[in-house]
Amino acid sequence: MSPEVKPDFLISPEGLRIDGRRPDEMRPIELKVGVLKQADGSASIRQGKTYIIAGVYGPRELHPRHLTLNDRAYLRVEYRMATFSVPDRKRPAPSRREREISMVIANALKPALFLQEFPKSVVDIFITVIQADGGTRCAAINAASLALADAGIPMRSLIPAVAVGKADGKLLVDLGDEEDKYGQGDVPMAIIPQTEEITLLQQDGSFTREELNEAMQMGITSCKYLHELQKEALRRSYVKKTPDNGDEDDDDDGSYEDDLETDLGEAELMED
Ligand code: CDP
Repeated sequence: MSPEVKPDFLISPEGLRIDGRRPDEMRPIELKVGVLKQADGSASIRQGKTYIIAGVYGPRELHPRHLTLNDRAYLRVEYRMATFSVPDRKRPAPSRREREISMVIANALKPALFLQEFPKSVVDIFITVIQADGGTRCAAINAASLALADAGIPMRSLIPAVAVGKADGKLLVDLGDEEDKYGQGDVPMAIIPQTEEITLLQQDGSFTREELNEAMQMGITSCKYLHELQKEALRRSYVKKTPDNGDEDDDDDGSYEDDLETDLGEAELMED
């Protein structure tokens, strides 16, 4: 593989990014729900070239027992990168970075979940990064939240996440790998979209107060867009699952929305 070369610029004289995007433009996103047969819930995300699969198991008995929480389920997240997911082979042993990102993802998802409904149990989320091209913690949150909904874990809302960064003095949403590596910093964030409560906010690099405010506004706008894509992916999966609705375009009584509402209700998704 040819060594990575630092690009001459991250923003062109026309104000476009290295992959031709505008500063506030997300990469193309593809979300799929129910991608793993064995898991209770699962989802995948392609965000540009970043590709991640999340599988949820549980609520189920917790081992080791000393981790048991008497008043709620333990949310256990394992974020891992496949050895082939990055240009240099990723060593298979869990790295400090993977452990930290696992914790950050759990903390970003927890505020939306009614874990108190399943005391003394565990909800496991296994996340594998198949291909990393920047923004993996946020893409992982987008997929994991969908996998939790697919598993029927009661939740207040799906959680969308995105990283906003800075390169050549310009704020950019949804950084790609080169923008992440050679840019001036990034702010990954996740929100509960209905209330705009922030469940993840990290900062790498330096931002002025004004830049940070603007970055967060750009992040909220992008998260709301992502939230629509998440809901749409979930709807598609329920339409597919409904036995008397074999064809997505074939509504028996024309009440497409009614079918969706019933099915979303079954998943105990408590969106408004
Ligand atoms: O992926 P995310 O932006 O959430 O986390 P990061 O630690 O800021 O990593 C940024 C990017 O660096 C990842 O998305 C990968 O593309 C790349 N990376 C890598 O090439 N090799 C690693 N061992 C870890 C990350």
